[in-house]
Amino acid sequence: MNNLTKPSRRQFLLSALLLPFSSLARSGQPTPVYGEGPFYPTPKMRYPDTDSDLVKISGAVRAAGGEIVIVSGRVLDRSLRPLKNARVEIWQCDVNGRYIHDGEPYWQTRDQSFQGFGHAITDAEGRYQFRTIKPVPYPGRCPHIHAKVWYQGKDRLTTQLFLPNHPLNERDGLYRHIPKSERERVHLNFDSADEPMATIDLII
Ligand SMILES: [Fe+2]
Repeated sequence: MNNLTKPSRRQFLLSALLLPFSSLARSGQPTPVYGEGPFYPTPKMRYPDTDSDLVKISGAVRAAGGEIVIVSGRVLDRSLRPLKNARVEIWQCDVNGRYIHDGEPYWQTRDQSFQGFGHAITDAEGRYQFRTIKPVPYPGRCPHIHAKVWYQGKDRLTTQLFLPNHPLNERDGLYRHIPKSERERVHLNFDSADEPMATIDLII
């Protein structure tokens, strides 16, 4: 089974069996908004390949370093209706802690095989899916993935997604100020599959 069929099947199973009963989905609480940070890559900074597989850049021989994971879920409105054709973007540092961005001070040591930025368009059930690496820390920050949702041409959500219980979380200036009641909505709870998967709904 190759890497593309496996997550698709798993996504289907999760969507069919688990997501309708998700406590997050029942709540309808919007996903908390956190800062974009200094490393959102403008279109000219990105690779020509901006697809949802950040681990493989079109034309590249090598896959990115790091632990490969799947991040998937749905984009919903506050009445929990799925939003079709929403554009979900994620960006994060590579396994060396480097961003693809003109302002990245240590760009020389960037992993040339990590796409760093990608996007997905939601389907009729509001579903999106990315293949990327498990986020790693960089100086001053605990591991996180930045995410942004565009809907009907408007920037509707900018947030950050975290690893629950990571030892650096409580030393992170942003994370430690997130109310405990809010954290569950931005936690990536990876399972223990060969290619770990986290499912997180983005409610705008
Ligand atoms: Fe960041």
